[in-house]
Amino acid sequence: MADAEHFTDPFWAPEPDEILSGGVPCSYNAPTASIEMTIGGLGTIAVRSKTTGQLEFIVRSAGPDSPTLKLTVTAESCVLQMKDNDSEPFRDIPVIEYRAETRKSEGPKKLPYVYYPKQPESAYLNVRSKKDPTVYWISVDRSNKRFRYGQHLTNASLTYLEAHFDGDRPSKQWMDQLKSTQILQNGREIPGNDVRYDPLPVTMDKPPLVVSDEQVSLEDLDKYHRTTYANLPPGCQALYHNIAGHNVSLESASFPQLAQAIDYSCRDPRLVCGKILAQKQKKNEFHDKSKTYLRITVGSNLANSPGIPYVMEIWPPGHSSPIHDHGRASAVIKVLYGSIDCSWYDAVQDGREPQQVGKPHKLSKGDVTWLGDKQFQIHKLENNYKTVCITLQCYQFEQSDNEHYEYFDFLDNDLHKDRFVPNSDRSYGELIEELKIEWDRKH
Ligand SMILES: [Fe+2]
Repeated sequence: MADAEHFTDPFWAPEPDEILSGGVPCSYNAPTASIEMTIGGLGTIAVRSKTTGQLEFIVRSAGPDSPTLKLTVTAESCVLQMKDNDSEPFRDIPVIEYRAETRKSEGPKKLPYVYYPKQPESAYLNVRSKKDPTVYWISVDRSNKRFRYGQHLTNASLTYLEAHFDGDRPSKQWMDQLKSTQILQNGREIPGNDVRYDPLPVTMDKPPLVVSDEQVSLEDLDKYHRTTYANLPPGCQALYHNIAGHNVSLESASFPQLAQAIDYSCRDPRLVCGKILAQKQKKNEFHDKSKTYLRITVGSNLANSPGIPYVMEIWPPGHSSPIHDHGRASAVIKVLYGSIDCSWYDAVQDGREPQQVGKPHKLSKGDVTWLGDKQFQIHKLENNYKTVCITLQCYQFEQSDNEHYEYFDFLDNDLHKDRFVPNSDRSYGELIEELKIEWDRKH
C-alpha cells in the first residue's frame, strides 16, 4: 500500500510492487531522473523532494550548439540561468520587478527576463514541513516563449518564478530544441519514482465556476470567469451531467419544503439533524466542534470514488470543513440551498500553515464548482451566512488514477495532518422519511 504522505503530491505514482499487484503503470511516470520531452520545448516536469539542500533542473537541447537552461533552488535562493551553447558558462537571466499590471508607459521589456510573481522567498525550498515532501515543478512552453517554476499543484497560480524569452535569439526557434531535463538533488540524480512528466506546459488556470454550454457567453470566453463543463477533466464532466439538471434540487413535488425542513431540524438538538450534529460534535472528528457538517449519502458506492460518489452535505451557520486534500480525485459541488464560502490552498503538509491560493469565492444556490488533480484540490468550505447551506458533493477518480486514495487528508487547528474516512451520517432515503415526520408534526 502507498504511504499517506504520497497524497499531498498530485504526481504520486505507484511503487513497482503495486504495479505488479494489479495497477496499470502511469504513462507519465518517469523510469529515470532524466526526462525526454515528447515534443521539444513543451512539458511540465515535477519532482517530489524533502531536501533542504539544493535542487537543480537542467533543460538541455538536442545538440551542443543550442541553449541550455538551469534552475537552481536552495533554502536561500532561486536562480534561473542560461547558456547559448556548451562552450559558454551559465549566466544569470536578469530579474525584473513584478507588477500585476503592466503600465503603458513602461514599453516592451528587454528579453529575456525573470520575475517572481510572489515574494522571491516563496520560490525557495519549502523547509517548513519536517515530515512531508514538497512537489517542485518546471514548465517549458515554446508556444508562449515562457518558462515557469512552481511548487505543489501544477497550475499558474502556484508559479513562483517566470521567465520570458525571445524565441529567435540566440538562434531561430531555439526553444523547439529543448529536449531533455535532468534533475539533481544535492548534486545527485533524483530517483525516477519521485519524478513526473506531463507533455503539456502550465498555461492558464480554469475558473472555479462551471456553467452549461447554454449559459456560457462571449464575455465568459473573453474574461474566463466561468467555464463550461467541456473544459474540465473527464471525471468532472461525467459528474456534472449527473447533477446539473433542474430536477436535482430540494424542491421535489413530494417534499417541496425539504430545505426549510432541514434548516428547522438543524436548529434543535432533539430533532434528527440537530441530534446527529450533537453526536458529531461529541465525536469531534476534525478536532474542532465548529468543523461539523452532515454527510447524507445518495445512492451506493460505485467503487470509483472515495466513499459513495454523491453526498448531500448540510452546513449549519458558522460551521465549516477543515482544510483538506482530495487525494487527486475529481469532484463537482452544486449548491442546493443557501450560500457557502469556498477557499483554496496550496498543500496539506504536517506542521506547515497552508497558503491560501486566490480569493475565497461565495457560492450560492444553483452554483456549481469543481476540483481536479491540478486545480482546487485543497479547499475549505465555510457557511458564514444566516441559514443552513446544503450542497451536493460528487466525487470520481480519473482513469489515469491507479491508486484510488479513499481518504481526505486534513489539517487540524494545530496543523497536525490526519486522514478522514468518507462516511455516512444517514442515507438520503432514511433522512427524508424522518424529516417528513418532523415537518408534518411541526405543521
Ligand atoms: Fe472537499
